[in-house]
Amino acid sequence: MKLKDSVVFITGANRGLGLQLAKVALAAGAKKVYGAARDPKTVTLPGVTPVQLDVTNHDEIAAVTREYKDVSVLINNAGIVRAGGILADNALEQARAELETNLIGPMLLSKGFAPTLKANGGGAIVNILSVLAWYSQGPTNTYSMSKSAAWALTNGLRVELATQGTQVVGAHMGYMDTDMTAGYEIDKIKPEEVAKQIFAALAEGKEEVLADDLTRQIKLGINAELPAYIAAARAAA
Ligand SMILES: NC(=O)c1ccc[n+]([C@@H]2O[C@H](COP(=O)([O-])OP(=O)(O)OC[C@H]3O[C@@H](n4cnc5c(N)ncnc54)[C@H](OP(=O)(O)O)[C@@H]3O)[C@@H](O)[C@H]2O)c1
Repeated sequence: MKLKDSVVFITGANRGLGLQLAKVALAAGAKKVYGAARDPKTVTLPGVTPVQLDVTNHDEIAAVTREYKDVSVLINNAGIVRAGGILADNALEQARAELETNLIGPMLLSKGFAPTLKANGGGAIVNILSVLAWYSQGPTNTYSMSKSAAWALTNGLRVELATQGTQVVGAHMGYMDTDMTAGYEIDKIKPEEVAKQIFAALAEGKEEVLADDLTRQIKLGINAELPAYIAAARAAA
């Protein structure tokens, strides 16, 4: 899609990948960038219009989708990860929190903005997913559940929005150098690099971003009857 003069709405735009997406949106020529955040005072990037939005607050979602009728690109970026795994004592609470933020929020925002995108020529939705949509590694298994479900949301939107010409981009990445992975001593991709890949995909009409080698490798393995990481976990048991 054409990014020059687009109007971009980004959730969780105050820090991490969301902040980098806002910078790249401005550099790509967006006419307006709405930076949504739980605390709009934390959205300080010049050129970005701060918007109050907690993606787990359904009234706030209804309010923003009613108010911002000029949006042509919605980026569902806000996300949380909770550690513990499926067998942890607090797994239900953790999974519900992740599903509300990583799945239901993006679902309601996509549904709410769909008529606006249609009225503005089709536009685009970008869902920030993860390599963990296709891979479960233990402590973050409930997060993987939420990102797999958000991948299904992305595919469902591709089907339901096909007639209105909305481009639906799923962006998958492994470890990214943001607060979310603070303390992990591991190779991480820079969020600015991921943001650039996402805007390149938008410009080129592509629908999937596989941002790093880990993600590209895991995607190749998902057709196996027994993915290599599950075989490895059994071998190590
Ligand atoms: N970092 C990684 O390694 C990695 C890898 C794959 C995918 N991802 C995904 O990338 C996206 C961005 O994450 P990040 O790495 O930039 O993490 P981050 O630095 O922890 O930032 C998370 C952002 O989400 C916002 N947020 C969380 N809950 C929210 C809510 N209920 N309503 C509105 N905003 C909310 C946060 O706002 P506050 O400042 O108010 O908390 C913050 O702006 C997420 O969807 C994440 O799952 C990250």
